[in-house]
Amino acid sequence: MGLPGGGKSTVGRQLARRLGARFLDADIVLEERIGMPIRAYFEQHGEAAFRDLEEQVIDELTREGGAPLVLATGGGSVLRPANRACLHERTTVIYLRSTPEELYRRLRHDTQRPLLQVADPLAKLRELYDQRHPLYDEVAHHRVDTGRPSVSTLVNMIMMQMDMAGLLPALGHDAAVSPDPAP
Ligand code: S3P
Repeated sequence: MGLPGGGKSTVGRQLARRLGARFLDADIVLEERIGMPIRAYFEQHGEAAFRDLEEQVIDELTREGGAPLVLATGGGSVLRPANRACLHERTTVIYLRSTPEELYRRLRHDTQRPLLQVADPLAKLRELYDQRHPLYDEVAHHRVDTGRPSVSTLVNMIMMQMDMAGLLPALGHDAAVSPDPAP
């Protein structure tokens, strides 16, 4: 989890590949269910209705047993206490921590994220950071700073933390932290 634009989907997809796990993006699952982009849903039904659906989707996806899954969650999923509890208790939460300035550089031309369609997106990102950083930090089991490292370095850093926590029993240490991700 982490703020919008921090690379949750990109890093999550590559982490899943390295772990031999499935990857799902909760926002995409949600868009498939509502049959429209999130931005349109926000405009027609409002944020509260979106958050209700998001809570339902996260509850369902974190209940699934069976095959290992890497799940990317929308940046605002941390706002609901029910999501915080279920993500912390049922999953291993990785917080991709990014500064508002870094996110602004990546998202200044974004048109899809409803919360950022405002006159001053940087101020909005600072406000989101102040509000959400303590919550991400509270829910997370592991944290990585997204600033400079490449995606594959971030994935290595996450795998190293998971390995040290004994979460990668199937992999030898070398496999877990190899600098050369499988294609
Ligand atoms: C949101 C972030 C978005 C999406 C929705 C609301 C938020 O996901 O769930 O637009 O409140 O920060 P990303 O974090 O993947 O952009």
